Amino acid sequence: VQSKPHDLSHRLPTLRAPGVELRWLTLADAPALFEIFSEPEVVRFLGVPRLRSRADADRRILDTHAAFNDRTLFEWGLVSTEWGAAPGAVLGTCTLADISWPNRRAQLGFALGRAHWGRGLMSRAVPLLVGYAFESLGLHRLEADADPRNAASLRLIEKLGFRREGYLRERYIQEGEIQDAVFYGLLRADWPVQRS
Ligand SMILES: CC(C)(COP(=O)(O)OP(=O)(O)OC[C@H]1O[C@@H](n2cnc3c(N)ncnc32)[C@H](O)[C@@H]1OP(=O)(O)O)[C@@H](O)C(=O)NCCC(=O)NCCS
Repeated sequence: VQSKPHDLSHRLPTLRAPGVELRWLTLADAPALFEIFSEPEVVRFLGVPRLRSRADADRRILDTHAAFNDRTLFEWGLVSTEWGAAPGAVLGTCTLADISWPNRRAQLGFALGRAHWGRGLMSRAVPLLVGYAFESLGLHRLEADADPRNAASLRLIEKLGFRREGYLRERYIQEGEIQDAVFYGLLRADWPVQRS
């Protein structure tokens, strides 16, 4: 178990499940990230600004690498390994954010390009992230929140076994829209080993 942040190497490992891979992002992925995160529907409930240019995408990747070096945020690119998928192309991201090592806790995040919703990709990818957080990083608790209207996200979080712990009123102001958040937590003890 890698319980200390400095035990990690210089980049994130690739995590694999049938049909999907989570891999380290590089600047070569900037066009793909721009495609995903410039779409208003994708960022609507994300609590991050929409990417408006390729330069924004470059900056986002560099910021992600800086945060990885600080061990405060780990972000993987999601790749489909199914037949017919563009080989190696990043279709979405999975993130452990706001990592608190003293509390062994992180915030779970996920987003997929609009064209790839509803194919079960995140249902296969997110358990990899949770398993890695608990079993390799030695985290104790994961948190997630989602807008009450974001049905796919709520379903995904609940399928993983997260418990609903609260309802946070008007927590986000995203592109001028005030949004509530359903708040969830998952403890290491709630997560069966080798679940994924
Ligand atoms: C949330 C998101 C990542 C889901 O990814 P996905 O690969 O499309 O999800 P899946 O196909 O694995 O579906 C997950 C579950 O939600 C259900 N679901 C999918 N779309 C749904 C919808 N519109 N309404 C209700 N349930 C839905 C699926 O049926 C599945 O549940 P099941 O296994 O019981 O059938 C994707 O919609 C997305 O990127 N949204 C924009 C970004 C975002 O909001 N991220 C989360 C912020 S908290």
